[in-house]
Amino acid sequence: MLGKLDEIRSKAIDELSSIGDLRGLEDWRVRYLGKRSALTQALRVLAELPLEQRRGVGAVANEVKAILERSHRQKKEALKEKAYQQMEAAVKFEKIDVTLPGRPIPLGRLHPTTQVLRQICDIFLSMGFQVVEGPDVEWDYYNFEALNIPRDHPARDMFSTFWIDVETPSGELPMLLRTHTSPMQIRVMERTRPPVRVVVPGKIYRYEATDATHETMLYQIEGLAIDENITFLDLKGTLYEFARCLFGSQRKVRFRCDYFPFVEPGVEMAIDCFACGGSGCRLCGGSGWIEILGAGMVHPDVLRRVDYDPDIYTGFAFGMGVERIAMLTYGIEDIRLFYSNDLRFLRQF
Ligand code: PHE
Repeated sequence: MLGKLDEIRSKAIDELSSIGDLRGLEDWRVRYLGKRSALTQALRVLAELPLEQRRGVGAVANEVKAILERSHRQKKEALKEKAYQQMEAAVKFEKIDVTLPGRPIPLGRLHPTTQVLRQICDIFLSMGFQVVEGPDVEWDYYNFEALNIPRDHPARDMFSTFWIDVETPSGELPMLLRTHTSPMQIRVMERTRPPVRVVVPGKIYRYEATDATHETMLYQIEGLAIDENITFLDLKGTLYEFARCLFGSQRKVRFRCDYFPFVEPGVEMAIDCFACGGSGCRLCGGSGWIEILGAGMVHPDVLRRVDYDPDIYTGFAFGMGVERIAMLTYGIEDIRLFYSNDLRFLRQF
C-alpha cells in the first residue's frame, strides 16, 4: 500500500512538470485528485485496514494528497502568470499608437436624380400640388387605353415597350413596365373628385438601345391639375413659374404644338438656353432653345372615362424627364452615367 502511494505521487509529480496549459492541468487534477482517482480510492479503503496499519498508511496517504494539492495550486499560478506575460508581450509588440487619426466613417449622399427630383417636387409643392406615386408594373389599360391609345393605334409607336410575359385567354399581353407616368393621371382621377393638383415622380421603362441620350430606365415627373375654369393660361403660368424657379428668373419659355393622344391641344415647352442666352451653343444644339417637357389640356375623352364631366371640369397635364433636367443643370453629357454606379461620377454631386 505504501509503495503504491509512493508510485502515485512520483508519477503525478512527473506528469505535472510536462503540462503547459490550464486545460491540461485540469485533466491532471481529475486524474490524480478526482473522485475516481487512485488516491481517492486508496483513502476510501483505509477504513477497512487494521488500526495500527491505518494510522501509518493514513498519514502517508493524506500527505501525498496534500503534496499533490499544493503542487496543483503552484502549477496553476505559474500557468496563469505565463499566460499574462504572453499577453503583455503581444500588446507591447503591437505598439498601439493612440495619436493615430481615426478612420473616417463613409457618409452616403443623395443620387443626383433624387436631388433634382426633390427640387422639382418642392417647386410644385409650393404651388399647392400634392406628391403621389404609382406602380412601375402597369396595366395596358392605364398606360395606353385610358389615355386614348387603343390597341393597334399608330400612337403606340411613340413608346417602345417592355411587355410582361402574361397572356390573357385571347392571347393579349395586358401588363407592361410603364412607359411614362401618365397612367397615374387616370389612377388619381379614378379615386378622387376635382379639384386635383398632383405631381407624380417615378421610374419609367423604354425598350430601346442605350446611348448617350437613351436609357431603358429613367425617371419622369407627371403633373395634373383639374378644376372648374382651368384654361391654357393656367398651364402656361404654372410651367413658366416652374421654369423660373428651377432655371432662374431670367428664363424665357416657348410653347410649340406637339402631339400626345391624351391632351388637346398638346404642346412641348422649351426654355431659352441658359448657357448661351439664346444665341446658340453646343448645349442647345445651336437653336437657342432647350426642350424640357411635354404638356397639354387633358383630352375630354380622358375626363369622360373617369366620370369627370368635361363641360364642368377642365385641366392640364405635363410630363418631364428628370435625368434630362439634371443633365442640363449639371452639364452631364451621357445619361448612362446616372445608373452605372461609378462613385467618381456620383461623388461630384
Ligand atoms: N407622357 C408623355 C411622354 O412620356 C409626356 C406628357 C405628359 C405629355 C402629360 C403631355 C401631358 O412623352
